[in-house]
Amino acid sequence: MTLTEPAPAKLNLALHVRRRREDGYHELETLFAFVADGDTVTLSEGEGFEVDGPFASELAGKGDNLVTRAAERFAEAFDVEARGRITLTKRLPVASGLGGGSADAAATLRLLARRHGIALADPRLFACADALGSDVPACLYSRTAIGRGRGERLEPVEGAPGMPVLLVNPGVAVSTAEVFRRWDGIDRGALGASDLLATARAGRNDLEPPARAIAPVIGDVLALLAAQPGVALVRMSGSGATCFALFDKPAARGAAAAAVRAGHPGWWRLETALS
Ligand code: C5P
Repeated sequence: MTLTEPAPAKLNLALHVRRRREDGYHELETLFAFVADGDTVTLSEGEGFEVDGPFASELAGKGDNLVTRAAERFAEAFDVEARGRITLTKRLPVASGLGGGSADAAATLRLLARRHGIALADPRLFACADALGSDVPACLYSRTAIGRGRGERLEPVEGAPGMPVLLVNPGVAVSTAEVFRRWDGIDRGALGASDLLATARAGRNDLEPPARAIAPVIGDVLALLAAQPGVALVRMSGSGATCFALFDKPAARGAAAAAVRAGHPGWWRLETALS
């Protein structure tokens, strides 16, 4: 029996960093959203772990993969044998602010929960996700939500399913830990409490300035996206370097993607939609 789980890309429609904590993490208020596309994780007969897909080579040789760690945690938490062959199909750029590794880990947990008849709402599953990384709980449910704390305290909010999105990554990997380290420590205020788009538009990504200091090309991506007709919101996601634009109409997304391709054929693009 083969089971497959999608590992959709995560976006931070807004990401407010409020304070540095004693434990080295940062207290956040973020608006998580998910798109229709991403990696996939497949469980089949046999043993072992393999990676395929367009970004497989970027993970090559990384034994400490979040997928294998998720499988180990699951086996421990639920006292089951970690059996089966896991295949990760890597379509999202690595270290790119799209929560790819977190989504892969979350998809692995969902996959094993299905295989072993564990409910998605089982608190032990959440505990596994929480231990694997700050974005993994949000990715476990893959629902539009406000995240507080490290990002693990989740409050579901109404999404905007189907809204056209264009993702663009200029091909530079950015270290999340380093971007957080360079945050200037200034609290610029809370996330608002309006509908999704209004809250996102009134918000910001406080990690954008430190990420741009490391990878100035992020500024070029944001400027190009902001110049596109029909754009409803442009922002960097997570700690970068992927930026996204939301559009009211698919045609505007298509035209923007063509403009990005024409100007920067080497930049990665994904035309997708909010889920
Ligand atoms: O939780 P995760 O391992 O994904 O986080 C990666 C790094 O990002 C952490 O080691 C930390 O440096 C930083 N981080 C943070 N505050 C958060 C989330 C992540 O400082 N809320």
